[in-house]
This record gives sequence, structure tokens and C-alpha cells, in this order.
Amino acid sequence: MDRIRIIGGQPLKGTIPISGAKNAALPLMIASLLTEDRLTLKNVPNLADVNLLARILRNHGVDLAVDGKRAGGTPHLGETFHLTARDISDTTAPYELVSRMRASFWVLGPLVARMGEAKVSLPGGCAIGTRPVDLHLSALRALGAEIEIDAGYVIARAPKGLVGGHITFPKVSVGATHNALLAAALAKGETLIENAAREPEVGDVAACLVKMGVVIEGIGTSTLRVQGKSRLEGTVHTVLPDRIETGTFAFAVAATGGDVVLEGTRRELLKTALETLSETGASVTDTETGVRIQRNGNGLEPIDVETQPFPGFPTDLQAQLMALMTRAHGTSVIRETIFENRFMHVQELARLGADIKLHGDTATIKGVRSLRGAPVMATDLRASVSLVIAGLMAEGETIINRVYHLDRGFERLEEKLSRCGAQIERLTAG
Ligand code: EPZ
Repeated sequence: MDRIRIIGGQPLKGTIPISGAKNAALPLMIASLLTEDRLTLKNVPNLADVNLLARILRNHGVDLAVDGKRAGGTPHLGETFHLTARDISDTTAPYELVSRMRASFWVLGPLVARMGEAKVSLPGGCAIGTRPVDLHLSALRALGAEIEIDAGYVIARAPKGLVGGHITFPKVSVGATHNALLAAALAKGETLIENAAREPEVGDVAACLVKMGVVIEGIGTSTLRVQGKSRLEGTVHTVLPDRIETGTFAFAVAATGGDVVLEGTRRELLKTALETLSETGASVTDTETGVRIQRNGNGLEPIDVETQPFPGFPTDLQAQLMALMTRAHGTSVIRETIFENRFMHVQELARLGADIKLHGDTATIKGVRSLRGAPVMATDLRASVSLVIAGLMAEGETIINRVYHLDRGFERLEEKLSRCGAQIERLTAG
């Protein structure tokens, strides 16, 4: 298994191109199941999760052609995917694939909407919490699907097609909102989705569905009104920039005391996270090409933050913020309200010398004068990258094991960081 080796202590300086958002690319690719026509997606990041979903979609009969980057093209514009689901040859998503990536469960809504039936494995366990799918199922039931659970599979049936309905989510869920939206796009009549997730990736999927012919009101708000269509058209859509990658690099720059322009991204995608970063003492400014992050030699101020659905502070940046706060001048408090078990990085950060105490959903981080490099273990995607940030701050050598977690969601991470002066390299398993 590959490992990453970091020698800490170098400030990051230069520019980092921000890739397309993984968490938008995945549901956008799934949207290809809704039409016989070609859906072209631009700016798709080259990631393990994207490649795995491509395999899953091919299994359903989706034809996928990929254009690579063109010579001289803009560095942050990724690959172009042409997806055509002329015939759905298989409406089953098997355990072997769904258990490897939860987002593949989101094929359920579009498959039952288009084909009148779908059989999708329950995703199973996950490193960051129990993550049930009850909200996905109740949303599809509200659109007339009959749902049965048998031998670890969800079987959804709507032989006469889905019909518009009223969905009120008792809790905000990104995935359940995607599933509901994708299903409602082909349902007959109007669907009202209340307490919908407002994450920019949901808005990006909605914008693509509008281009495919669906009428959607309320994009970007928690109330979505969807007029389904019996047939959707193909379109061309560009995946929005990855706000979590943006935030991760922004925190890494603040952590090392550097000066970097994050290119091809937008501040409003992660306003709260960047405001938090400003509170720590880093400077955040807009440039013509993106967002510039600077931190001079001054220390970092401690913060008190809780994770919230968008527009609040994102859970997907909680681990990275914690890594940054290990070196603050004082004590920070971070409360995780979205997932019950998303603190796997705490023990690993402690191996580098961090002083963190956990009480239920709250971590109290007492800033230390220095971190010291050590071997650590990546546990999930965002936890892993928090170890990269800590490694960049630490004195000496940090070796991160199990980096396949990083490859799921960060494109060319070592290259992007080393071009800005970081001493980071991949040790490839022989
Ligand atoms: C999405 O996961 C993201 N994944 C996650 O990013 C992100 O952490 C999460 O949203 C929250 O922002 C993708 O977009 C691919 P949820 P999702 O449904 O949709 C509970 C990453 O690192 N819940 O919004 O699975 C759930 O247990 C990943 O890129 C139910 O109770 O998250 C959690 O407590 C990790 N019942 C809360 O809702 C349900 O039916 C929010 O989860 C569904 C969810």
C-alpha cells in the first residue's frame, strides 16, 4: 500500500488549482440514468470514487467516454465525461460495489423513476457513523414507490411510474435530497421538497436537471418545487469547484504560514469556513482567478465552532480545522453535530503531539508549541487530509499510511502541495 512522506516546516507559496467537486460530480454522473440522451460533464476530477462510480454506472448499462485534458488547457479544468444511458440493462446495484462507496446508493431514485424498479444494496457500515438511509426511503415512498427490504437489499417498485408528492425531511440530508430530486425529475406532476439540503452540490445538480428539462423553483433554498417530466434531454454541464478541497488547502496555507492563491474556486461556496479561518488570524481575499490565503508569522487565534449543514461550518472540514487548531495560542472547542463518530483523527493527531480531549460530540483542543512528525494512519478521507496538514506543520518526518483514503477525494494532492514548496512525496508500494 502506498504511503505519504512529509517533512514539515515549509510555508506554502504559489498557486493551487482547485478541482471539480467530488460530491457534485458523483450525483451528476448518476443523473445520466435519467435520460436516453448524452449527458456531458466537464471539470470532472480524476478520483478513485469517480472511477468506482463509473464502474457501477457501466454495470447498469451506461456508456461512458472520457476526454482527457487538452494540452495548454486550464490546469484546474478536469476531465470531460460523456455519459449515455440509452438502455438500462441492469437495475440492480450489488453489495460488492455499493458497500465501497455510499453515494452509489443514490442510483435508487433515478432507477426506479425511469425503470419502475430498482434493487440496490444497503450501503452497510461506515467509519464516520451509522449513516442510515431511512430519509431516502421515505422520500421515495412519498413519490409512490413501494419499498421492501430483503436480504440486505432495498427493492423499490413503481410499475406505473413515480408521481409527484410532498416530502418534508425531519433532518437535513444531502444524499436524501439528491435521491429525492433525481427521482422527482421523472415523476409525474409536482413534487415539493421541504427542509432540503442547501449544499452548493445540491444546487449544481438542480441546475443540471433544469438544463435537462425539469422545472425547479427554489434552487439554493431549503424548499424545492420540482415539476417532473416524462422524458429528459441530454445537456452539457460543468461541475462546480470543490469547496472542501478549497477549504483544506486554505487551512494548510494558514497552518504553514504561507501565501497561496487557490485558483478556479469561489469564496461564497465556503463563506463560513473562510470566515472561521479569518478569525484564526489568516487573511482571505478575492483575486481575479480565485481566493488568496495568507498568514504572516503571527500566531493562530483559537476558535469555537460547531459543524452544521450548509451554510454552516461543514463537517467535511472539521478534521482539517482541528489539525490547524493544534497549534493555536489557546484552547479551541469544536463540536461535531452531523456524524456521531467523526473523530478518528484525534488519536492520530495525538501521535504528533496534539493535546485534544474528547467529550461526546465535543473536542477541546489546547494549542501546543510544536508538533513532532511520526507515523500515522489514515482512517477516512477528511481525517487523512487533516494528518497531511498536521504533517506539514510538524517538525521532522511524518509518514501517512493507508493513503488510498486520500485518493478517493483529493486529486494530485502531493503534486499540488509540492509545487508550493511542501516537502511531500508518495512512497509507492513495491
Ligand atoms: C454527504 O454525505 C457527503 N457525501 C459527505 O461527504 C458529507 O459529510 C455529508 O453529506 C454531510 O455534509 C457526498 O456528497 C458523496 P447526509 P451523505 O445524508 O449524503 C443522517 C466526504 O468526505 N441521515 O447529509 O451521506 C446521517 O446519518 C463525505 O466527501 C439519516 O439519519 O450525508 C448524518 O447524521 C463524507 N438518515 C446526517 O443525516 C438518512 O436517511 C447527514 O448525512 C440519511 C442521513
